[in-house]
Amino acid sequence: ENQIEGTVTWKSPSNIALVKYWGKKENQIPANPSISFTLDHCATTTTLAYVKRNKEQQQERFSFDLLFEGSPKPEFKPKIGKFFERVEKYIPFVKDYHFSIDTSNSFPHSSGIASSASGMSALALCLMSVEKALNEKITNDYFNQKASFLARLGSGSACRSIEGEMVVWGQNEDVKEASDLYGVKLSQEIHSVFKNYQDTILLVDKGQKQVSSTVGHDLMHGHPFAEMRFKQAETNLSKLIKILQNGDQKGFIELVESEALTLHAMMMTSLPYFILMKPHTLQIINKIWEYRSATGSNLCFTLDAGANVHLLYPENEKDTVLTFIKNELVAYCENGQYICDQIGLGASLM
Ligand code: PMV
Repeated sequence: ENQIEGTVTWKSPSNIALVKYWGKKENQIPANPSISFTLDHCATTTTLAYVKRNKEQQQERFSFDLLFEGSPKPEFKPKIGKFFERVEKYIPFVKDYHFSIDTSNSFPHSSGIASSASGMSALALCLMSVEKALNEKITNDYFNQKASFLARLGSGSACRSIEGEMVVWGQNEDVKEASDLYGVKLSQEIHSVFKNYQDTILLVDKGQKQVSSTVGHDLMHGHPFAEMRFKQAETNLSKLIKILQNGDQKGFIELVESEALTLHAMMMTSLPYFILMKPHTLQIINKIWEYRSATGSNLCFTLDAGANVHLLYPENEKDTVLTFIKNELVAYCENGQYICDQIGLGASLM
């Protein structure tokens, strides 16, 4: 009740979508359902110190300062200010406190890895800890659900970073507890071949994204293929849930690669149009296809809204795939950089 100050730290992971979210309605409501693997190593750690503002300090709407990897980061402030504006209705205490936010990523900065999912989910979880300090009656389920709800308002895909190992976001016929407002952990039992799946991220282009995801989602309004795409995502989610249960790895590869290419096809066929893949992205994709037909491997790729390639493969292929990466694929990575990650269990209180 009278909590006037405190400090909390959360570590929250990134996630990689298998069925992609691309296109949204008002208030960060997704145009189609999506599903992702929660990652393990790629994460943001955020410490939030909060102290009650006195009445005289309350001229600004929100009061916070921000350290990113130990230094002030004024260019991130508008995004966080906007996040506070969006969540104020649901956690009114945000206007009563001064916050010191200290945040850092486990992955190299400007690696072209989107940090919005891990960053926004970590901040949302910290704010939920403040809510819990003010109201101890909050249950764990409510805590996670509302953290995901708040994270969504920061960045849509961030709502899929609270829990592991797989999270569904967006209403659909197959997961009845799913919601447009927050992500839910996939409760169906996953086949053992998909346990501990690996994700090695090849850093092809570490440059600034040519198109922000906000602009990208907007381009789905009036996109000639939008309705078909949204339907396809629903069908693909349905198929993927079956595949995850029956262990059909060939089906998994086909669906996941098709989703990645479709995401990029949407960008290529919007107005204005974009090509976010780089020559090295395509070379990697071709190498993966050659490798698969030569070896019968279950290695496949997925892409985000950028040039980097996520290599997905079962744990029992770890050694052979890493050898393949070192021998053949590292040459296409900027400065030879790649990140080894795997499916993770979600965010943790530090
Ligand atoms: O969360 P946003 O608004 O940055 O959108 C992310 C969209 C993709 O990463 C391309 C796909 C996804 O589902 O994560």
